[in-house]
Amino acid sequence: MSVVPNSGNGKVTVPDLLQRKTQAAGSHSNFQKITCLTAYDYPTARLLDEAGVDLMLVGDSLGMVVLGHENTLSVTIEEMLHHTRAVRRGTRRALVVADMPYGSYYTDLADSLHNAMRFVKEAGAEAVKVEGGERRLELISRLTEAEIPVMGHVGLTPQSVNALGGYRVQGKTADAAEQLIRDARAVEAAGAFAVVLEAVPRELAAQITRELRIPTIGIGAGPDCDGQILVTTDLLGTFPWFTPKFVKPRLNAADQMRAAIEEWRKSI
Ligand code: KIV
Repeated sequence: MSVVPNSGNGKVTVPDLLQRKTQAAGSHSNFQKITCLTAYDYPTARLLDEAGVDLMLVGDSLGMVVLGHENTLSVTIEEMLHHTRAVRRGTRRALVVADMPYGSYYTDLADSLHNAMRFVKEAGAEAVKVEGGERRLELISRLTEAEIPVMGHVGLTPQSVNALGGYRVQGKTADAAEQLIRDARAVEAAGAFAVVLEAVPRELAAQITRELRIPTIGIGAGPDCDGQILVTTDLLGTFPWFTPKFVKPRLNAADQMRAAIEEWRKSI
């Protein structure tokens, strides 16, 4: 019997993702980009898993594209746990990462650790994601010390929408770019295994990607990151009322659903 659970069966693990970047850097071979999508329910998770997606993020975008809120701020831990459990049940191969919602990691470290552990113990998440750079150094160190892999998230951090004054590209001035580089470095130094770069100019994202030893996962950050993540409803067109400019939907599921419903309605 193997002493390494999951090894060799295709299951994506945190060490695999780190190794993919290290190996590519060492051998200059073609880096196999890390594919990440959001999932919020069992059937979507199962379909994405069967299609070979590497990382499934139970994003707090849930609040907007599933629960119909204006932003992500009102999403609760209980809601995130509920949806993470469903995604866990639908996922065999991909790494399941749960987003810690707004307010669940800003108070004291013990509370934040307790909340993060709930995602692992009660919902089966294999890692958590937190937004913010230098400000999260201590938190990320504490969580990784407690054996909880952490994915960072810098650039446009939607939980800061009120502080940022809207959803805008970040790092456009020299000072802002410097801060963003410091944020990405801090996330790596604190022990995160990957970092999401959201709404960051292409050249800056490429520079951060070259500098960091951990994989960068871009969203609206150009093609040079180590991986890409999208909100699945944007990719498949199941939330047609708003699609970010940088997304090219691969399916117009909303129109297909409307047509199918219309056809059924007329047939009875
Ligand atoms: O909540 C989410 O879906 C996210 C991704 C957009 C990175 O944070």
